Amino acid sequence: MTYARIAGTGSCLPEKILTNKDLEGMMETSDEWIRERTGIKRRHVAGDDETTSSLSLIAAQRALEMAGVKADELDLIIVGTCTPDKIIPATACIVQRQLGNKGAAAMDVNAACSGFLYGLDLANRYMQTGGARKALVIGAETLSRITNWDDRTTAVLFGDGAGAAVLEASDEPGIRATHIHSNGEFEDLLQTTGGVSLGFDASCDRDKYIKMQGNAVFKRAVATFDSMARETIADLEGHIDDIDWFIPHQANMRIITAAAKKLSMPMERVITTVDEHANTSAASIPLALDQAVREGRIKRGETLLMAAFGAGFTWGSAMLKF
Ligand code: UT7
Repeated sequence: MTYARIAGTGSCLPEKILTNKDLEGMMETSDEWIRERTGIKRRHVAGDDETTSSLSLIAAQRALEMAGVKADELDLIIVGTCTPDKIIPATACIVQRQLGNKGAAAMDVNAACSGFLYGLDLANRYMQTGGARKALVIGAETLSRITNWDDRTTAVLFGDGAGAAVLEASDEPGIRATHIHSNGEFEDLLQTTGGVSLGFDASCDRDKYIKMQGNAVFKRAVATFDSMARETIADLEGHIDDIDWFIPHQANMRIITAAAKKLSMPMERVITTVDEHANTSAASIPLALDQAVREGRIKRGETLLMAAFGAGFTWGSAMLKF
């Protein structure tokens, strides 16, 4: 049996930081409200010269360096993003060129906040069936570009960044289980109302930027985290005690706490970065993973459970031995 194992991780955050205090000067909100309702203290926001591909490139280079893998060895590159640089070509192709790789299959996956886990699932299946030996999976976003800064119900929630993982084929696990799902029924609860085919004028059409019925999404997110985590653990006939670290999508500290409680997972074993990064959609899990790895909290041989939930709705989970 061939497994995909994470050989290296990397991440990149824009230099510019927007604190809750900064937002107080931009809209009717308060540091206290944002902290209490979300756990967010600050977020990184891309500058004019930063893009989803430029953040992805740095995250990828760091992951390749940690893995000891050269860019031209990659045979699969997947970027999970809902904020690509351009409509065409795929951001994955832009990153591929900048890395100096020629010939790998390169594609973007838009599964909103679940984008990284969708990418991990695809790469894992490619590697298990011999379609790839070395893969790069990135989650990257510049959500600030589609944030309506006049809408306090969404503007305080999001941030920009990128995280990456280099996967290598191995005889030892590795990724042990992945599950991805979606249900398009809930499109109205979290969406942009403009787009390519519907028409989108990025310079003036703010009304078509991200819109969310926060409370309804919140309830779904909590219920789904619990069921998908159990699905993945049960798949391996395991138990929550087998998990060393839970890395949930970083949307809201209250969602994370509620999900951990339902799973009986003590908060000491939950990786949280939402306070510093806010919700970076597809980037949130690989950013949290890389931060915890580089801080020495996550160590080789430990078992990780990742779970994400986002627009679509999409959701996904992965259990792996790091
Ligand atoms: O990543 C994809 C998945 N996304 C999520 O999982 C996000 C899910 N949702 C959430 O995290 C939460 O629902 C929010 C943080 C978005 C909102 O928290 P909430 O506890 O659900 O608050 P709410 O929407 O019920 O709003 C409560 C009050 C409202 O005022 P009234 O109607 O009670 O007078 C809002 O107008 O808070 C008001 N409010 C704000 N006040 C200050 C909403 N946004 C703000 C704000 N500052 N930024």
